[in-house]
This record gives sequence, C-alpha cells and structure tokens, in this order.
Amino acid sequence: MKTGFSDTFAKTQTRFFRFLADKFFARRYSHRAVVLETIAGVPGMVAGMWIHLKSLRQMRTGYGPMIRELLAEAENERMHLMFFIEIARPNIAERWLILAAQAIFWNYYFVLYVCAPKTAHLMVHYFEEEAVKSYTSYLQLVESGAVQNVPAPALAIEYYDLPPNARLSDLIQCVREDEMHHSTVNARFANIEEAGHSRRELYPTSVSDCKVLALQARTTPEKAEG
Ligand SMILES: [Fe+2]
Ligand SMILES: [Fe+2]
Repeated sequence: MKTGFSDTFAKTQTRFFRFLADKFFARRYSHRAVVLETIAGVPGMVAGMWIHLKSLRQMRTGYGPMIRELLAEAENERMHLMFFIEIARPNIAERWLILAAQAIFWNYYFVLYVCAPKTAHLMVHYFEEEAVKSYTSYLQLVESGAVQNVPAPALAIEYYDLPPNARLSDLIQCVREDEMHHSTVNARFANIEEAGHSRRELYPTSVSDCKVLALQARTTPEKAEG
C-alpha cells in the first residue's frame, strides 16, 4: 500500500480518535467497547449502502460480494455491541456521547466515502488495528485479574459456538479476531481503490453465484440474533 496523503490523513484521524477515547475512557475497557462498537457499526453500513446504490444506478451486477462483506461487517459490529452491553451499561454521559457521535460520524463517513473511498477504507483499517490493540489491553487486564473474568453472555456463546462455561476472556479473543478480519478486508478494499480497479472487476459474480448464496442463506441454520 502506498503512503501518501490518504494514508497520512487516515492515520491522523485514527490517532485523533484514539486520543479522545484514551482521555474519555482511560482503562474502562468495557464502557469503551460499548461506545466504540456503536461507531464501528457505521462504516460497513454506509459503504455497503453506497455500493448498493451504485449498482442500482449503473443497473449492473458484480457488486454483490463487496456489498455483502460490508453489510456483514456492520452486522458483526452490532453483535459486538449486543455482547458488551451485557457486560457494561453506558452511563448518561456515554448515552449522549453515542447520540452525538452517531449523528456526526454517520454524515462524516458518508461524505468521506463518496468523495474518497480509498481514504475511508484506510481509516477503517487503522481503526480496526486500534481496536485489536484495545481488546488486547482489555484481555491482559482480565487475565491478570484486574478485571473480573465474568461468564460470557449467552448470546455470545450461541453466536461464536463457545462452550457453555466460556468467560469474558474467550469473548474478547473472538471479538479481537473479528476486528483483525475487518482490518484485513478494509486494507484490501483500499488497495483496490488505490490500484484504480473497478470493484466489479475484482469481485465478479454470476447469477449462479447469487442463486447459490440465496440458497445458502435459506438453508444455513440461523446464527444467534441480537
Ligand atoms: Fe467491533
Ligand atoms: Fe471491527
């Protein structure tokens, strides 16, 4: 991946948000997770919606895999929120912060994605790297005994197919793996934009692919829903 204005901008934005999160939450990682997951669920939905609209405007196939990946990311982040809301309840200040952050960040990310999709994906890539670091720090606190290793929420046990006696530390490891995946996927999307490739060329799909996916969606047992 080239370094340039996009990369510098994305890194600067990430450092800025990291600075704010560190100041506001310090080592209250469960509260940090709740608030930040409400923001993490935005980019995949915005980007997935935009590519979906692009496909409608162009009246062309081929965008399906990218749309599904982005919407799956948003759904996965929403599930992270559902797990951590069982661990920590946001206080009134955090609830106001969530409202303000969503109003600002949704609009900000939408404009950024429409004008500079490569930068937008890079930013999410770096956000996700920070999320991995935060969850690693959270895990260290739990494993050291500084934070109680409470039982994992039933919803998380069902979603990740964990053993019934799974603990918070198991949940954090699963969530951290998801964040690593989001980081990789967004770096790949940024590279596609960087190379100037069409999203359709790199994500070809055929009608038969769509039929297979639709069939899978109908026959795959439902995962835990939040
Ligand atoms: Fe997340
Ligand atoms: Fe993520």
